[in-house]
Amino acid sequence: MNTESYVNRYGSNALIIGASVTIGEQFCRQLAAKGMNVYMVARNEGSLTKIADEIRETYRVEAHVIALDLLSYGAIDQLFELTSDVDISYLVVNANLHKINDFNLLSTQTKLDMVQMNITMPTLLCDHYGKKMTEAGKGGIIMTSAMNYLMGLEKDAVFQGTKAYVALFAESLWLEYRKQGVDVSVALINGIEGSPSYHAKTSSASRMVLKGMGISMVPEKIVEKCLIGFEKQRPFILPDYKLPFGRTMYTFMALSKILRFKWYARMFSAITVRLLNGSDLTK
Ligand SMILES: NC(=O)c1ccc[n+]([C@@H]2O[C@H](COP(=O)([O-])OP(=O)(O)OC[C@H]3O[C@@H](n4cnc5c(N)ncnc54)[C@H](OP(=O)(O)O)[C@@H]3O)[C@@H](O)[C@H]2O)c1
Repeated sequence: MNTESYVNRYGSNALIIGASVTIGEQFCRQLAAKGMNVYMVARNEGSLTKIADEIRETYRVEAHVIALDLLSYGAIDQLFELTSDVDISYLVVNANLHKINDFNLLSTQTKLDMVQMNITMPTLLCDHYGKKMTEAGKGGIIMTSAMNYLMGLEKDAVFQGTKAYVALFAESLWLEYRKQGVDVSVALINGIEGSPSYHAKTSSASRMVLKGMGISMVPEKIVEKCLIGFEKQRPFILPDYKLPFGRTMYTFMALSKILRFKWYARMFSAITVRLLNGSDLTK
């Protein structure tokens, strides 16, 4: 779709939540390349400012920095206030919180923070911006979840639960909002090469194995594929290589549910936990 048709279909202003690194940054750059003004939210003001400067220079669109900690009290209301005079017609919900450890070893506060970032925040954002988009009869919402949300994982109970919520929440909104002119997709993301969070949770050996299995990708490619799937109005998008590594894995996950393969659930979790062998274990 060319720049003019993109803006006609989705409006001019995109709000990207979690815009300072990897795929969030790429959503900003690639949506700006499609002619959209970008409103960029994250905590790291320095990174946001640098990306915004480059976007203005390269694509001649507006790029606005909104430095906020979305876990801080009142931050979401502050975001609504800061964007109150802008017609946000495109929303990317990408920020999240992922802390791993045995369920009993994670603090109650960490668990609640994950629920706040990964469930409450996307819900409130859609409640606010999604409602306005449906009233206007056009817009787009992309949420990011994880490809393996179908599987339970040891040391990852809360996070997996929250990512399952995002996936099903988005798919349900896809059903409702498509009748009101708003496209919704969830991107089922795998390993993001270069992501600080991915690097903190995996050793370089694990990353090599995952790369070899075709289940990690560079952020540019992931977002390119997400935007193609989104334009095709897919409820969920699995950014994958030409050889369908991710889709094959996803099929096995779905089959293991239908066929009640207890061994597959245990094996999948055991392998994943071995690969999540970085330094990022949290209380
Ligand atoms: N990383 C992977 O390999 C991987 C694998 C599977 C799925 N995913 C999914 O892909 C998406 C992006 O992952 P990611 O690893 O890039 O995520 P991330 O590093 O945790 O954060 C993404 C963005 O959110 C911002 N952010 C985080 N906490 C925030 C807060 N409290 N307030 C405001 N902004 C905040 C970060 O910027 P600041 O730090 O500047 O605030 C960053 O711009 C997520 O939905 C994740 O579940 C990732």
